[in-house]
Amino acid sequence: MNYFYQQMLAFFAVVMTVLIILGFSFLQFARSTAYRSTEKQLFGYAEALIDEDLQTDKIENGQVILKNQGVSIFVFDHTDTMTYPSTTQNYISGISDSDLEKLKNGEPITLTQRNTDFFGNQINTAIVYQPFFTQSTGDFYGFIAVSAPISTIEANLKDIRNNLFSAFIFSVLGATVASYFFAKFQVNRINRIRSATHKIAKGDFNVHLENKEMDEFDDLAADFNTMVDSLKSSQEEIERLENRRRQFMADAAHEMRTPLTTINGLLEGIEHDMIPENQKQRSVQLMQNETRRLIRLVNENLDYEKIRSNQINLQKQTFNAFDALEMIIEQLKGKAEASGNELLLNCPKDLTLFADYDRFSQIVVNIVQNAIQFTENGKIKVTGEFGENNESIIKIADSGIGMTAEEVENIWERYYKADISRKNTKYGESGLGLAIVQQLVNLHGARVSVESIAGEGTTFTLVFPLE
Ligand SMILES: Nc1ncnc2c1ncn2[C@@H]1O[C@H](COP(=O)(O)OP(=O)(O)OP(=O)(O)O)[C@@H](O)[C@H]1O
Ligand SMILES: [Mg+2]
Repeated sequence: MNYFYQQMLAFFAVVMTVLIILGFSFLQFARSTAYRSTEKQLFGYAEALIDEDLQTDKIENGQVILKNQGVSIFVFDHTDTMTYPSTTQNYISGISDSDLEKLKNGEPITLTQRNTDFFGNQINTAIVYQPFFTQSTGDFYGFIAVSAPISTIEANLKDIRNNLFSAFIFSVLGATVASYFFAKFQVNRINRIRSATHKIAKGDFNVHLENKEMDEFDDLAADFNTMVDSLKSSQEEIERLENRRRQFMADAAHEMRTPLTTINGLLEGIEHDMIPENQKQRSVQLMQNETRRLIRLVNENLDYEKIRSNQINLQKQTFNAFDALEMIIEQLKGKAEASGNELLLNCPKDLTLFADYDRFSQIVVNIVQNAIQFTENGKIKVTGEFGENNESIIKIADSGIGMTAEEVENIWERYYKADISRKNTKYGESGLGLAIVQQLVNLHGARVSVESIAGEGTTFTLVFPLE
């Protein structure tokens, strides 16, 4: 069954139940009120007649006056024998022994219904019995029965019933319309969420449900929105990763093609004996260089991936920064001088560092090599400083070609080279160096930043926290 009809039915059922219960209790109330007032009236007649000492002419007068209301008056003596109206026959009231006992004790008997009158005629009547006693002795003398036909009460009740019935019909119509709109409203809210779900299933994440914070449907809408947001961001992350993967495959293939083409060309030359004898030695050396380049590329990629996926363990220890930096300077001095650069160290002798010694060297060597690579006949200064909060700061500043802001933003990307034409220099230039540096710095919980002015120089700053 449609939710719409379920809702309508439920709402309708509630309204109907309330109406029926109210209708019945109202009818019941009206009926008992009608009976009680009739009963009160009849007792009134009985008491008035008792006050007149049940004189027969008074009773007859009363009987005449009340005739058109259908009221009949009967009097019985203490033996339950009818004394008025006087008959030759021996009519008895037919009252039960326990009721007679009550009357003897002075208790009036309230409304009792009978289907026949005392003469045995078929008629629905309401009767009250009022006892009376001899005034002088106080002995039980008999009782008076006053009856009225129920038909008058029932006629009144019928009017009420008719009115109630029309009210009921109107209410049913009203309830139907109200439940229709109520159900429609609820179903619309569900359909809203449904169509949003369909949109998402089709890959459209630009969905936002309205939320008035009214009820559970609104809570659902709020949860739905949260779900859409997280789906959206994971979708974006997937796309970003996919793009990166694609870019990486393209870049890696591109990087490998150059050395492979060189090696292939040289091998073909050797195969067809097209390389002069005196060039052969050089060709082999070229091929060796290209092969080393490929090996370096593969190794650096593996290294990068290892660091990225947390597959390397840092052997962190506290060591002297001056000694470590001096060692690196010693190593790279030759390279620096080859391109006319001055490589200087300025570091307090007692500066310490807390890091993996080999990985720290790898980081600094990479940055200094870059500085040498992009500087000609300039100065490269390596500085060590004590930082705030027990940090050790290493700065590598060069007076080389520098970078634009846009270039600085991209240098951490794998395979990024600001100037693509500067390929295949003596230091490799695969564009992996800084990507690895960044991963290693992160792994140490350290920070690295760059300041650069195009044409003036670049400064890399490393901040290592102490143990
Ligand atoms: N000191 C610097 N001065 C000017 N540009 C720099 C400097 N350091 C890095 N760059 C720019 O950042 C790019 C990326 O550097 P990165 O070290 O990652 O790669 P690479 O040096 O080109 O190759 P690899 O280090 O893998 O051999 C460089 O190609 C260069 O354009
Ligand atoms: Mg480099």
